[in-house]
Amino acid sequence: MGDAHLTHDTTPSQAVDMERFRLRRFVEDLRGTDELEIRDQPTSLLEVAALLEGNPRAVLFRSIGPEKAELLGNITSSRSRFARAFGVESKDLAREIQKRLRNPPQVVDIPGSQAPVQEVVLTGDDADFTTMPVNLQHACDGGLYISAGLDYALDAKTGWTNLGARRLMVRGRREAGIDLVAPSDLRAIYEASVARGEPLPVSFVVGCHPIDHIAATLRVPVDELGLVSMLRGAPVPVVKCVTNDVRVPADAEWVLEGYLDARGHAEPEGPYGELLGYYGGVKHNPVFHLTAVTRRRDALFQTSTIGGRLMSHTDTAQISALRTEVMIWRALETAVREPVAVYATTSSGGSFHVRIAIRQRVPGEGRNAIHAAFGALANIKNVFVVDADIDISSDQQMDWAMATRFQGDRDIVVASDMRALPLDPSLEGQRMTAKTGFDMTWPFGMGDRIETRVPAPPNWQTQRFETVQAALENGPKYFGELMSAVGSTDGREVVIALDALRSQPGIGRDAQGRYTIVDKQ
Ligand SMILES: Cc1cc2nc3c(=O)[nH]c(=O)nc-3n(C[C@H](O)[C@H](O)[C@H](O)COP(=O)(O)O)c2cc1C
Repeated sequence: MGDAHLTHDTTPSQAVDMERFRLRRFVEDLRGTDELEIRDQPTSLLEVAALLEGNPRAVLFRSIGPEKAELLGNITSSRSRFARAFGVESKDLAREIQKRLRNPPQVVDIPGSQAPVQEVVLTGDDADFTTMPVNLQHACDGGLYISAGLDYALDAKTGWTNLGARRLMVRGRREAGIDLVAPSDLRAIYEASVARGEPLPVSFVVGCHPIDHIAATLRVPVDELGLVSMLRGAPVPVVKCVTNDVRVPADAEWVLEGYLDARGHAEPEGPYGELLGYYGGVKHNPVFHLTAVTRRRDALFQTSTIGGRLMSHTDTAQISALRTEVMIWRALETAVREPVAVYATTSSGGSFHVRIAIRQRVPGEGRNAIHAAFGALANIKNVFVVDADIDISSDQQMDWAMATRFQGDRDIVVASDMRALPLDPSLEGQRMTAKTGFDMTWPFGMGDRIETRVPAPPNWQTQRFETVQAALENGPKYFGELMSAVGSTDGREVVIALDALRSQPGIGRDAQGRYTIVDKQ
């Protein structure tokens, strides 16, 4: 982990690029690629959910509702778009994020007059949720949900800014329910403020770069404005809000300023189509009061797809998968000698099923990896560990490894009564969960046998010899190796040569099946 101390950068505010990490800029860069669908035709808010569900592309709606508003959906619902956001290949994302977590945090304060997100400031009655393009996402939801909001709040204990992703259920022009049931830093900060009888100022950013969404879900002990900067790999310009003291990225699209009132978990919120693919029921939750809306002049509103049957195409599953992979990497780095790859499946919601590839250096490392993963995150439920030759992003390779390297009575590890994600419907209301590890690695040291080697088409490039006998006198060789040794692209002449050698001097086979010369005299 890098320096946890937040530096207030002395970079002049004019030197900070306020467009580079702007959401609209990211979307513009997707134009003309397979990643983006642009919908110019008039679309009602009611139609939005069906157009986003299961859609592998991000969708830019150019004409929503009677006011022809712009709305962006599904921007973070694919790994390839995250790869673009971080400028690396999909398979390298977790490693890249790990690397960026060592960047120095640079936070640059910008006066409101220079902050793009305060180009338009609406307070009093002008601050109104019902002027925003907020759509009904699932048939039984308790109302319209702002699903892509990132909340910024001040932690009175540390003075740091806390950042998270939390949905808002619009309850009126200036009231919304926030889901604050799961254990989180914001919940702890809020409960401390309720205990003091005080409301908690919170500001929601709606519309921001995909990288900021990853910052919102990572838990590292730093000021999380600094975390945004570390992950961006650039100074983050921040501006103080107009009606509270919270600071937010000045290059955001929209900011919804306000506070959670001091009544605690007082009002019903939900049902809502949740991150595991099922509805969560009605919960008692705090109420957010809107005090101001600030935005860019051409601000782009954002919605995230959550829940449903096609989990891999939801924003939550993709964001959660990256978060899971980063957290597991961090745990594995101390638990095993050589972690090779980590992959969280998005079809399981991005955290329940985790695949790990390791290079075993000592016996027992498969089990170490399993136990490290069990403890790394509450949400992890089933862990699958394989050797480094398996491509863990491939369902086919994982199925094959399970079929051929795994014994149910030898390789299963079950841990009971661990911290659970209460939304898991298989818990039947219990508060703790079982976690299962599947050790699909070869028993230590077994990986050298011919029976554990994976056949592949011949591709030998060996030292050349005049004859098969000369090649064998140099050492034992596979048949294909012998072909290469004598320059044969056919093989039949090697059969004949071996046949001739069989009696004089004599041919043997070693434990690997290679041909050897044996002296029969
Ligand atoms: C798209 C998305 C929506 C989320 N919505 C909620 C939510 O409504 N309530 C919640 O408690 N957690 C939600 N989460 C998970 C939290 O954002 C996550 O646990 C975060 O780390 C909490 O931050 P904090 O501990 O700094 O407060 C959501 C995550 C994502 C990716």
